[in-house]
Amino acid sequence: RVPARLALLGAREARALVPRRERDAHKGDAGRLLAVAGSAGKTGAAHLCLLGALRGGVGLAWLASRPEVLPLALGGLPEAMSLALPGEGPLGERDLAPLLEAAMAVDALVAGPGIPRGPATGPLLRELLARSGKPAVLDADALNALADAPGAVGPLPPSAVLTPHPGELARLLRQSIADVQRDRVATAVASAEALGCTVVLKGARTVVAAPGEVPWVIPTGNPGMATGGTGDVLAGLTGALLAGGIAPFDAARAAAWAHGRAGDLAARRLGERGLLASDLAHALGEVWVEWE
Ligand code: APR
Ligand code: MG
Repeated sequence: RVPARLALLGAREARALVPRRERDAHKGDAGRLLAVAGSAGKTGAAHLCLLGALRGGVGLAWLASRPEVLPLALGGLPEAMSLALPGEGPLGERDLAPLLEAAMAVDALVAGPGIPRGPATGPLLRELLARSGKPAVLDADALNALADAPGAVGPLPPSAVLTPHPGELARLLRQSIADVQRDRVATAVASAEALGCTVVLKGARTVVAAPGEVPWVIPTGNPGMATGGTGDVLAGLTGALLAGGIAPFDAARAAAWAHGRAGDLAARRLGERGLLASDLAHALGEVWVEWE
């Protein structure tokens, strides 16, 4: 179904979604975030996710990952804290207890960038979201883990924000990438309705949709962002805004806009060709300077 209308998210509208910090703010007000990310060989995904969250203004951030991943993922990130998930291999049932305990002490969750995925990962993540009741960003292999279960992917909590690229959304919807891309706005709207939560369909002209809402198209961003790790930065940034108390649809739109703007500012200095995901994360600071 083609939506009746769509809206282009302007700079002023995006900025209005992110409140200024109160003069007497403390770390708790800025929000606490737990990120489930990283595995051997994908420690950088966790690093970039945490960097995106920290540059996104989160008050306190924890990385939950397998023990051997933590020192590599958190090297050069002294601001982040860690939660070791004992054992090895794909995330599953036995990880629920420690994750749930940590989740209860934070304001929002991010799961997905570089996680080790197996048959029990999707059910674990559903359980974690349902039992913690916390708003959560699901990205990358968290989305693929949900798609792994047989049958249609059922509804998720309304406070969830999914950040698929076209390939990940195609898997979730059991469609081809060509189907997803044919009408990106219609696909984003239909998937948000079917999944019952906010969907951020990434790529050139990212679309943000949520059930019952007019879909928003994000005009910021450039092809320089087509480089490994920029998606992980977006997941962390979105989580930071959620942890700060911004509603899921607003957090998703503001994060996507600011992420694209940071990519544009960094590309101006480094070129689209030279842009790294970590440059984009650091350039978020320049976006906040523009906004503050
Ligand atoms: N114009 C504007 N924005 C773009 C463009 C473009 N041409 N190309 C990419 N982007 C943005 C997307 O909107 C998104 O925010 O860059 C980001 C890319 O995110 P992902 O596709 O998730 O890529 P990333 O995660 O960095 O890639 C590493 O993770 O999700 C897996 O399958 C993915 O293996 C890959 C890995
Ligand atoms: Mg990605």
